[in-house]
Amino acid sequence: MQLSPSVTLESHPSVIDCLEINNAFAFAKISLFGGHVLSFCPKHDQRERLWISDKSKLDGSKAIRGGVPVCWPWFGPHNDTQYPAHGYVREQQWHVTHCQDTVKGTEIILAPETCVGAGFDGLAAVCLKVTIGKQLHIELITENIGNSPFTFNAALHSYFKIEDIEQVRLNGVSGQYIDKLAQGNVLQTPSPYTFSAETDRIHLNPLNNCQIQSTSYSTNIQSDGHDSLVVWNPWIDKSAGMSDMTHDGYQTMLCVESAITQGRVLAVNEKHCLAQTIA
Ligand code: BG6
Repeated sequence: MQLSPSVTLESHPSVIDCLEINNAFAFAKISLFGGHVLSFCPKHDQRERLWISDKSKLDGSKAIRGGVPVCWPWFGPHNDTQYPAHGYVREQQWHVTHCQDTVKGTEIILAPETCVGAGFDGLAAVCLKVTIGKQLHIELITENIGNSPFTFNAALHSYFKIEDIEQVRLNGVSGQYIDKLAQGNVLQTPSPYTFSAETDRIHLNPLNNCQIQSTSYSTNIQSDGHDSLVVWNPWIDKSAGMSDMTHDGYQTMLCVESAITQGRVLAVNEKHCLAQTIA
């Protein structure tokens, strides 16, 4: 596949292959392992939007801790625990099927090695369309190419870079949420939405737009095609048990994930687009 002038393939032994994008609007980096956006830094403010753990494995031996992991065709643990959490495409090698510089930015389409995997019976075609412009726009497109309907879940599991988790506010998220840390109890979203402990929440029927208000800047997140917004921070004890988190890494990250967690039925020939725009 011919890459466009703003895109370079970085390939080194024992390290995941990455696309580096440097166009008029932004710098960005995409790992082919996982079809995983690692970095987005718009030139107008030169501020990195995404967070990567200092201890993340970057050799393809484990899903990357940070950036925008693609969860598909299930979200969280599978009913059958022999299958990996968050599906199987985040640990696959993806390839570029389209790459073009346009007036709005660079468009890159990636597809996973295979959409077939143990734990999922549907016949699907999946691709990730990433547009690197003034904003980062990511679309995860799922198409039913089989002869019967299937049900799937998915997420664009973005890790956002923040200055201090204890000073951050999440604006634009309200209503009820499912608390994954309290046996799935349904609780009311706090207002203001701040953080002082481990957080793992599924907000159902969220609005399209929310904002992470950090101390000296804000990051805007638009979601489309989702039924949930998942908000996650592992805090101190959980991080200590994770081999790919440093003891203080939780302080500078917040996951706000545009997700399908309630099971989306896709009819034969139907296409679904789950999207997130980061500004
Ligand atoms: C979140 C889940 O989406 O991802 C959490 O809600 C989970 O429960 C977190 O711990 C990280 O998952 P993983 O598989 O990348 O460690």
